[in-house]
Amino acid sequence: MTRCNKLPDVGRRQFPKGGAFAAAGMAIAVAAQAQTKTKTAPGLALVEYPSKRLANLGDLKPNEPLDVSYHDSAGPDCDIVGFSTTCPHKGFPLNYNADDPPLNCSGQYSHFDADAGGQQIWGQSTANIPQYALRIDAKGEICAEGVDELLYGRLSNVL
Ligand code: FES
Repeated sequence: MTRCNKLPDVGRRQFPKGGAFAAAGMAIAVAAQAQTKTKTAPGLALVEYPSKRLANLGDLKPNEPLDVSYHDSAGPDCDIVGFSTTCPHKGFPLNYNADDPPLNCSGQYSHFDADAGGQQIWGQSTANIPQYALRIDAKGEICAEGVDELLYGRLSNVL
């Protein structure tokens, strides 16, 4: 049997070089393709939240939660925060208590700290309470403009 002299002699040492070059080429191509996609369409994780008027600053009193449809509660330091009032564990309603901790699950008793961004501090829940991003305009109108976590029982925060 005769050997073809026109084929390059690709030994074991040379093969990884070619493989690495091919892999590097693919990574660049994938990165370039992903970059092109981000320019043409927003990522699926980005959600546009509607701005919704909730109340006026004059409507708020310290340690008295105000029930609104997009959400509630003002702190003792005059900070204004808004949280979902549904427990992220199984969906029981949360009770507001001006004593520490202020938000407690009425069903299975998890406690959440509004001063720490709705962090779960005790109980069966493994998630924090979704917190709303609030904006207050020059007239004192309080508007909710986003949520930092998925609301309980929802596949999307914006329907
Ligand atoms: Fe609130 Fe389970 S439903 S802790």
